[in-house]
Order: sequence, then C-alpha cells, then structure tokens
Amino acid sequence: MASRTNGQSAQKAVRWEYAPAPEARQIVKLQPRYGLFINGEFVEPLSGQYFPTLNPANEEVLAEVAYAGAEDVDRAVRAARRAYEEVWSKLPGKERAKYLFRIARILQERSREFAVLESLDGGKPIRESRDVDIPLASAHFFYHAGWADKLEYAFAGRKPRPLGVAGQIIPWNFPLLMLAWKIAPALACGNTVVLKPAETTPLTALLMCEVFQQAELPPGVVNIITGDGQTGALLVQHPDVDKIAFTGSTEVGKKIQKAVAGTRKKLTLELGGKAANIIFEDADIDQAIEGIINGIYFNQGHVCCAGSRLLVQESIYPIVIRKLQRRIQLLRVGDPLDKNTDVGAINSLMQLRKIEHYVRIGLEEGAQVFQCECELPSKGYWFRPTVLTGVSMAHTVAREEIFGPVLAVLTFRTPDEAVEIANNTRYGLSAGVWTSKGSRYLAFASKLKAGVIWCNTYNKFDPASPFGGYKESGFGREGGVHGLRAYVALEGE
Ligand code: NAI
Ligand code: MG
Repeated sequence: MASRTNGQSAQKAVRWEYAPAPEARQIVKLQPRYGLFINGEFVEPLSGQYFPTLNPANEEVLAEVAYAGAEDVDRAVRAARRAYEEVWSKLPGKERAKYLFRIARILQERSREFAVLESLDGGKPIRESRDVDIPLASAHFFYHAGWADKLEYAFAGRKPRPLGVAGQIIPWNFPLLMLAWKIAPALACGNTVVLKPAETTPLTALLMCEVFQQAELPPGVVNIITGDGQTGALLVQHPDVDKIAFTGSTEVGKKIQKAVAGTRKKLTLELGGKAANIIFEDADIDQAIEGIINGIYFNQGHVCCAGSRLLVQESIYPIVIRKLQRRIQLLRVGDPLDKNTDVGAINSLMQLRKIEHYVRIGLEEGAQVFQCECELPSKGYWFRPTVLTGVSMAHTVAREEIFGPVLAVLTFRTPDEAVEIANNTRYGLSAGVWTSKGSRYLAFASKLKAGVIWCNTYNKFDPASPFGGYKESGFGREGGVHGLRAYVALEGE
C-alpha cells in the first residue's frame, strides 16, 4: 500500500521478537455446513442455497452457511411469533431470568472456544476476542438476567410490556458482542427474536445456537438466520415483526428507516462514527498515546466508536507525533490467534479495498502518510497501522468513516476550537478527552455532541452503561436501563 512516508527512518524503535504463541485452534469443531436455526433446531434453507465464510487471515473457507430467502425469513418470523404467543410472553420474569443466567454461564464456560472461533471467522486478535468480546457478551446476559424480574421498577411506576417479535441485524466487527447486545435485552423484556448476523462472520452466532439448546431455551424464542443484505431487508419488511434493531453502516440504517416509516414497527439504529480523540497539553502524554493506539488500532479500526480523528493541541503536536510514530512501529500485526498480536486481519477483501481507497484519497488531497513497517503475512487481508498528518476538516479522511487502522491527525489551539472541530461531523457516537484537569474535562464534555465520552481512557464498555449516538450515528441506546426502553411499550403506549 501507500509507501510515501515522512521521516520514517528517523523514528526507528527497537521491537522485541517473541516466539509465536498461538492459541490452539482444535478447541473449535467446525461443521462443513450450517443450516438455519429455526424453532430450536438447525434446518436446511428452503432457498436451497449456501455461501462460504472465510478466515480473513489466510482466505481459507471455514464452512458454508445457509442463505435465507423470503420463505426462510417468513418461517423464522412465524416460529418467533408462535414462541412469543404460546410460551415466552406468558413466562414470569423470574423464569425468563433463569434462562438468561444459564446462557451467560454456558457462554462463560465455553469462552475459549468462542474466542478462538471469533478470531478465526472475523480476523480480530485473540487478545481482543478473549479479553473483551466474549467476557462482555456473557456480562450482557448476566446483566439482563438481573433485570428480567425487576422490569416493573425500571420505568418509574409505568408498567412495561413486551413488543412481540424483534428482528435484529448485526455487523461483522463485534459479531458475538452485538448478538448479546441485541438478544439479552430483548429476551429479558419478554420478546422473541429473529437475528441475522453479518455475512462474513456468522459462525459464533451459529455456535451460540448450541448454547441456546444447552440452556433448553424454549424453541422459537431465538431464531438465527444467515444471509446477506437482501435477507436483512426481507426481515425488515416482514409484516409480522414488531421491532427492528440494527447496527451497521449509516447508509443501510437510512434504508431501514425508510422501509419502516409508516408502519407500527419500532426502530433503533446504531450506525457509524468519526470520533474525535482530543489531547490537551496538560495530559499525561504517554498514557494518552496508549489510549489513542487502543482507540484506533487494536481492532483494526473496525469499531464504530473508534477514535479515528486525533485532535492534538498545537503546543504538544511535535512530541505527540514523535511518540505516536515510535509506538506504531512496535505494533505486532499478524496471526489473529497469536496471543502477542496487537492488530489482526482486515475483515474482508471489500473492507480492505475501502480502506486502501480512503488512504489513496488522503494522499491525493495532500495528507502525509506514516505507516508501521512490519512484515505482513503473504495470504489474507492486511493493512498497516497508518497515521495521516497534515489533515484538516476539509479532507475526506477527516470526515468519512474509514473503518480501518487509519488515524487522521488534526490540530487545535483553544478548547473552543477543539469543540468546533470535534462537533463538525455528521456523526456523534463517541469522543475521548485526555487532560489532567477534571474541571476541564467536565466543562468540555458537556459541549461535545457525542453519545459516549471517555476521559483519560478509550473504548471501555459496561452492560450497565448505555451506548448510542447523536445525529447520523443513529438513535436509541443499548445497555443500561435506557437500553431496556427499546424493547418494551409502557402503559398508555
Ligand atoms: P452494512 O451496514 O451493509 O452491514 C451490516 C448488516 O446489515 C449486515 O448484517 C448486512 O447483511 C445487513 N444489511 C445490509 N444491507 C441491508 C439492508 N438493505 N437491509 C437490512 N439489512 C442489511 O455494512 P458493511 O457493508 O458490512 O460495511 C460497510 C461500511 O459500514 C463499513 O465500511 C463501515 O464503514 C460501516 N460499518 C459500520 C458499522 C458500525 O458498527 N457502525 C459496522 C459495520 C460496518
Ligand atoms: Mg468469516
């Protein structure tokens, strides 16, 4: 990829070589082919079609999964409706809670298997899937199990009731975690579910079906259908779905909003972002550098709330850039299953092309490109951790979501200018602030138009803490008591 650099050779840092430490892959038992999970069992798709899912780190086909067409979507929605009417909506909250607790515990017991599969199918480093994705997914089930029998206290005297059948569509960047964010609150509130994972990362959702079976979740309460955008659109359009929850691109989010306009369907959208990570001159710079690295590189930048715009106060710009350039040379890019790996594979060829395209535009528009010089594996989809400097808000790379390990660096002089730049975006999902002054942080954060703001840290999540955006980053919240609101109707509604 882009080879133009600025003073790269002057920034050489010593990188320790570690012996490979790959996590054993054998713990995952893959089937050659997966059907659709409808009414508690795997069934062949009525469409008769299947498609492959790859390991993006070596382009190996891992398995074939069923492609759900219109009849399949209908079958899944009917199963969810039946389970809702006959079983799930009649169960008291404390009984629903038992199932959620069981699911959480089984997921915890099988966490290594899930972590390995998540890394195999999606390309993210095992350190991320093992330490972040899987524990948080199980934490979401635990958290919502706790709510299932306490819902009547959640809404200040207003009695909640479930909505019915929820259609849920999730992306490929946090496949199991997004599944947990969607399914746990839906079930806790008494709804049943038809969920469609992303086409490049369906395998942990399919493994989760085994967990639902192990937990003896009544058939039809959760149905998992695999397919592409067309399958997702069919689910959105299905007349017997009461609620749609979507996480993914703003472009598709807008289409979904149009499709449900004028129907009774409730909608929550969690879309893209272009977060500002803002570093003031009084910040602990070394700590901030680690946070910046974590915010944009550790998940290949495949994070909707990634700190993809770095705003540096002008007085500390030279030192921040120097430290950043040094630090990115130390990143370990490669085998996602290796426990030492910091940056894994790009999720798909399509996404790799998109990132390359944006960095090319960055160069054409006059940005300077600085990249990690590490060796990349010969097979698979890879992109070097990249810093773009000499960028202003007029540059495409400062405005559009790249969704890759690419950081655009801008500068500011005063806090007011930082607010103006940070808010100068069509998105508003998240932001980061690095400062040693608590008063500055509090005053500053209240001016930022972003759903989540981290101070002196980045990408920290907790099931009790609501997550969601402003503006074109979507609406509705996931997590916390706010997240429950999206899955209930209150008395009088
Ligand atoms: P996407 O938004 O197309 O896909 C997300 C999910 O929506 C997938 O399950 C997909 O099958 C489904 N889908 C696609 N078209 C649909 C439709 N018309 N109706 C219903 N469901 C539909 O995202 P994609 O194409 O994988 O990535 C494109 C860009 O979106 C990325 O480059 C990135 O910038 C952004 N993105 C943002 C995410 C976020 O969490 N904010 C997650 C994934 C991608
Ligand atoms: Mg895959």
